[in-house]
Amino acid sequence: MRLRHKDLISMNDLSVGEVATIFDVAKKLKQKQKKGEPHQYLKGKTLVMIFSKASTRTRVSFETGFFQLGGHPIYLNDSSSQVGRGEPVRDTARVLSRFADGIMIRTFSHDVVKELAEFASIPVINGLTDLEHPCQALTDLFTILEHKEVLKGRKLVYVGDGNNMANSLMVACAKVGMNMVCACPKGYQPDPVILSEACEEAKKTGCTIEVEEDLFKAARGADVLYTDVWASMGQEGEQSIRKEALGDYQINKELLKVARPDAIVLHCLPAHRGEEITDDVIEGPQSVVFDQAENRLHVQKAIMALLMSDEKI
Ligand code: CP
Ligand code: NVA
Repeated sequence: MRLRHKDLISMNDLSVGEVATIFDVAKKLKQKQKKGEPHQYLKGKTLVMIFSKASTRTRVSFETGFFQLGGHPIYLNDSSSQVGRGEPVRDTARVLSRFADGIMIRTFSHDVVKELAEFASIPVINGLTDLEHPCQALTDLFTILEHKEVLKGRKLVYVGDGNNMANSLMVACAKVGMNMVCACPKGYQPDPVILSEACEEAKKTGCTIEVEEDLFKAARGADVLYTDVWASMGQEGEQSIRKEALGDYQINKELLKVARPDAIVLHCLPAHRGEEITDDVIEGPQSVVFDQAENRLHVQKAIMALLMSDEKI
């Protein structure tokens, strides 16, 4: 089984069925990994990982995951490669396609990733742009599925900045029929084009994707509370203005009281404790953030196997 697109750049690249397939394969690969069973679907292949932004989870989960699949990952960053010295993206794409079997890229501009994919003959995977973080959103829903057994009809409330995470989660929730409310203040709401695409998709799967300024109203009856940092990578200079605007948008004990008693709390990490989430909540019994972090490995292995393997998965 292969995915219908060569690349995974946006959540919109995946059909509803493909999202389910990724979850099935991730579950199988996770079981195999835990049991120590071989699953070298990418033996002899090479993945080039380009990082123009910092990373802990994405780098280690892709690198470890590709190695566990039998392949060889290569790490490139801006300062130690020609990527940061202005080599045209389309040249990098064509050169890497002559050497490797896949590219994972984390960068600022979403258009750079699209151009890379257009000129590369090998699969390109988005490891985060300013606009989207699809591998994280898929991992998040996989984690919710593990904890809640069904996704359809559940309610996810996203708290804070309507950033790349919010954008990818809106489309991901719409694809699996999960209701989502983005609790974000004016000026910090998710991308309007992605919001309207997600709403269209939600009509087909029978759920709703909404934006609500009133945090406590939004969080009522939530099955999942989710947050991310107030200032993303590249927005460091806006730290204080964002703190001012987003200061009330925090997952804390008071907010948990209006969610369902069995609600779970997710955060893509890294977290700024005392800002978007309190220390007691992230360390508390409802937090599943480390299961979520671990699942990056399993879900991305599924994505890479489905995009790059010549074998039947
Ligand atoms: N969640 C996530 O993508 O983490 P890193 O920035 O550490 O890769
Ligand atoms: N929104 C965050 C996510 C980090 C994983 C950022 O882009 O920095």
